[in-house]
Amino acid sequence: MLSYQHAYHAGNLADLQKHALLAWMLDYLTAKPKPLSYLETHAGRGLYDLSGPESEKTGEAAAGITRALSEEWLPDGHPLREALDSIRGAHGPDAYPGSPLFARYFLRPEDNAHLAELHPAEHEALASVTRFAHLHQQDGFAMAHAVCPPTPRRGLMLIDPSYEVKTEYEIVPRQVSKLARKWNVGVIALWYPILTDSRQAPMVEALRKNHPDALISEVRFPPARPGHGMIGSGMFVLNPPYGLEDEARRLEAIYKRL
Ligand SMILES: C[S@@+](CC[C@H](N)C(=O)[O-])C[C@H]1O[C@@H](n2cnc3c(N)ncnc32)[C@H](O)[C@@H]1O
Repeated sequence: MLSYQHAYHAGNLADLQKHALLAWMLDYLTAKPKPLSYLETHAGRGLYDLSGPESEKTGEAAAGITRALSEEWLPDGHPLREALDSIRGAHGPDAYPGSPLFARYFLRPEDNAHLAELHPAEHEALASVTRFAHLHQQDGFAMAHAVCPPTPRRGLMLIDPSYEVKTEYEIVPRQVSKLARKWNVGVIALWYPILTDSRQAPMVEALRKNHPDALISEVRFPPARPGHGMIGSGMFVLNPPYGLEDEARRLEAIYKRL
């Protein structure tokens, strides 16, 4: 039974780190005329309303993307800002895209996209905004194993689990290693939370040990509410595109000032 709903958290400080790096990578990869594959194992509903009750209830977007825009954390021309401006132009000033709509902004007709979302309602919502992609209502890792190595072989996979099931922390390093073996040229990006009880630490240690060349970028931020368990987030990227590390360190410096 899946209960996680990303609408409560869309546009928060963790999403901002993930989406800033995702947009940067997609902008970089689509600058070359060669087609690519884009895969997402945990896609969410694709489009969120920051004036909706979920977002208003938590206030997480106000402390995240809204603050980032007002304080110019993203310079002019930053791929996330460009994508967000365009998507808000189409869907209104309170819209916030999930990762699939950020991807849609950058992908070209010759690119190939596969998105998995298991939750029936989230999948249905996703289907209404992502006609550009092959949609899969199945476990994201099962989809990724079925599709990898994709055609075209160059490309990016985002793995963004909700970590609702505690065993996900054990499963993820094994899945990442298997997928990396199947798709050794793919950029594989994994998002993870940093929690007060450090539940994520053994997973990150295993990832680091298995893939010493991967880029790992972690940011810390105040909890969304007193006592809330998430105090930061991380991105683990295999085969990081040239220049991504500079963007990751730039973001880390901004979060250090919070
Ligand atoms: C963190 S949210 C995704 C957010 C999205 N990637 C974004 O950045 O906008 C995780 C999503 O994974 C979905 N999910 C949970 N378990 C899944 C599974 N085994 N396979 C595919 N999707 C799953 C949840 O329903 C939820 O919508």
